[in-house]
Amino acid sequence: MSEMTVHTEHAENAGQTAGGEKKEKKKISLSFIQPSGAITLGNYLGALKNWVAIQDSGDFNCLYAVADLHALTVRQDPKGLRSQIYQGLAVLLGCGIDPEKSIVFQQSHVHQHAELAWILNCYTMFGELSRMTQFKDKSAKYADNINAGLFTYPALMAADILLYQTDYVPVGQDQKQHIEIARDIANRFNGIYGKTFTIPEPYITKSGARIMSLAEPTRKMSKSDTNKNAVITILDTDDEIVKKFKRAVTDSGSEIRMGEGKDGINNLICIYSAVTGKSTEEVEREFEGRGYGDFKLACGEVVADTVRPIREKVNEYMRNKDYLDEVCRKGAAMASRFAQRTLEKTYKKVGLVVPKSE
Ligand code: TRP
Repeated sequence: MSEMTVHTEHAENAGQTAGGEKKEKKKISLSFIQPSGAITLGNYLGALKNWVAIQDSGDFNCLYAVADLHALTVRQDPKGLRSQIYQGLAVLLGCGIDPEKSIVFQQSHVHQHAELAWILNCYTMFGELSRMTQFKDKSAKYADNINAGLFTYPALMAADILLYQTDYVPVGQDQKQHIEIARDIANRFNGIYGKTFTIPEPYITKSGARIMSLAEPTRKMSKSDTNKNAVITILDTDDEIVKKFKRAVTDSGSEIRMGEGKDGINNLICIYSAVTGKSTEEVEREFEGRGYGDFKLACGEVVADTVRPIREKVNEYMRNKDYLDEVCRKGAAMASRFAQRTLEKTYKKVGLVVPKSE
């Protein structure tokens, strides 16, 4: 991907091999998805597509997981949650995350997450948690269940990140504040006890970062939208996708051009551009002299072509849960070895006595 910057030249990373020649230690990239059903086209273009590019660049050690513990901060139907966790895994693999190249697991399978989260809770301030926009939004939305987990959500997320000495966290724009608080917690801890955690950096792509609703193009495309015409998910059929684009809300103009007040057309041009890899100018040129109807159809088709192979793979993985279990078993075992090192280091720093191994 053209907008991907690969940072490998940092001097502190150059380790020495036995022969004396310099060997670059790979940077660590980590991200989790919530197990909340089919992801949207916006999630795919803004985040997952990029996770795959990071993995395939070969320049990073990558960890990708399903944040099942985070999901418990809102009330879940146990059976539904279980199936959504599998779907989360199927989505990761279906989008191109390869368990041979990346470590793939479920958060709850690596017990160190909950353990480090407890420690970090004691270094996270009430005031800073109160300022988190996600907490404010979710407590308005789930007013009858404003539980402590919803409030301390960012400390668990900080643990997810800091356990692996993560350098980069590729996320959508909406998660930026959570990465910032993770950095603040890490800096605070390092300030008291000396360097314990790597300070993570958010990695947010420009293209696809803000895919808007097809029905109300001034609002972000959101999974929880009740108007199904507003949202494309990666499990939509070709037919559904084409229909939704046909119905997409646009203005009364006719030119395929980016412009002020043309939110609908701007959004479609951005989607077309993100999916095809063409610049918005190239898209404008390609559709010069053609009308909105033609363009909407073309958008539907390119998106359907992108989504189809993903949908087919996700459905295939969903029929093979034993395989998903096996991927997670191996992934958790690898993640856990790494996580344990950081956890023990943290225990020692704060003055806990690490159990002696036999
Ligand atoms: N909070 C993230 C979301 O809602 C999911 C998440 C949990 C995450 N832990 C993480 C993302 C660690 C990146 C890194 O999408």
